[in-house]
Amino acid sequence: MSLLELDKVSKVYKTGTFGGELKPALREVSFNIDKGEVISLIGQSGSGKSTLGKIILHLVPPTSGTVRFEGTDISAIGKAGLRDYYRRVQGVFQDPFSSYNPLYKADRVFDMVKSVYFPGVRGTDWQAKVEAALESVTLNPGDVLNKFPHQLSGGQQQRLLIARALLLDVRLLVADEIISMLDASTRVDVLNLLVDLKRRGLGILFITHDLSLGNYISDQTVILRQGVVVEMGETPKVLGNPQHTYTKSLLAAVPQLHKKWGELGAGATVIPAGEVRAGSSNGKIAHDEVGRYSKSPLHPLRQGRGGSGGPLSSVTKTAGGRPSLMELEDAPWQRRGPKAKKSPSAVLSAYPAPPLQECEAGHFVATES
Ligand SMILES: Nc1ncnc2c1ncn2[C@@H]1O[C@H](COP(=O)(O)OP(=O)(O)O)[C@@H](O)[C@H]1O
Ligand SMILES: [Mg+2]
Repeated sequence: MSLLELDKVSKVYKTGTFGGELKPALREVSFNIDKGEVISLIGQSGSGKSTLGKIILHLVPPTSGTVRFEGTDISAIGKAGLRDYYRRVQGVFQDPFSSYNPLYKADRVFDMVKSVYFPGVRGTDWQAKVEAALESVTLNPGDVLNKFPHQLSGGQQQRLLIARALLLDVRLLVADEIISMLDASTRVDVLNLLVDLKRRGLGILFITHDLSLGNYISDQTVILRQGVVVEMGETPKVLGNPQHTYTKSLLAAVPQLHKKWGELGAGATVIPAGEVRAGSSNGKIAHDEVGRYSKSPLHPLRQGRGGSGGPLSSVTKTAGGRPSLMELEDAPWQRRGPKAKKSPSAVLSAYPAPPLQECEAGHFVATES
């Protein structure tokens, strides 16, 4: 039994004033996440990545299909069960404090956890627990406690929320575009932290539109195009030997993936995921590589470009003149049409997902339409 099992998960949003318009977002997505495994979910803006993250976090119900966590169908979880679910499954997002009341100190997020999950823990014991969690994400409690969100860097905010998740015996972390918008040095701290969490046995769904970030840390890669999985499997196979035209076009737009960044004149080095795993004995991205990675040309993204899961084309445009990838048009099943207007299930049955074939062991590719 995997930690998380997605079985033909589909989503069609109802939009419009009376919910009369249908917006298909995911079509029959199936894959598993095991303990201690990092899965990259890669796709352009609008491909349905966040929708899948929200479905896993029980924030959005799927139109059809099943999500099982530790063997239990999460749609059966009631209000009381949700509290327990969120003890084990947590999400961290790209701009975690954007909808947070700015008049509250950031560490209020810990108070919320305390009142719900640890009402009996006493003051100094609680303080010690929080400080231990902060230290385990390499935050100095003195730097972040008693501060307002705007006084913390993006990386500190995300690590603060990961620390909060760690207080909760979390087993699965959904990380939605958490690194793309950070400045480069903080970015590597958060990447290192994710590698460390994986070593502690957490399963991580690492959602990104950035192939090179996915390549860094993931065991498995799932390529999502317009809500459909077009290719998936072991990361070195999917990114090293892509089979689907779409994956190839994504890779073609990121030529640095298989090159040393130094060769590109960027003065930075990309460490493929395989080397991260097999490399230095502590399994972390070594800090000397950090400096070089910090010269990443993706840095300008931090200036608010791209928005939530910004389009890949904006990444490539800001990335030092590399070819940009045009956004693809909506797939037929995403266009509004007479069929799409009927009902969510009519949309789904009118456009069945293309089947995946195993092209080599541990590597699956969809039949191309
Ligand atoms: N609440 C919603 N209502 C209607 N459509 C939505 C909603 N959320 C997302 N969508 C649509 O679903 C598609 C997938 O969105 P999303 O999951 O956010 O993609 P990604 O995270 O890959 O950028 C997009 O076309 C988006 O406009
Ligand atoms: Mg998104």
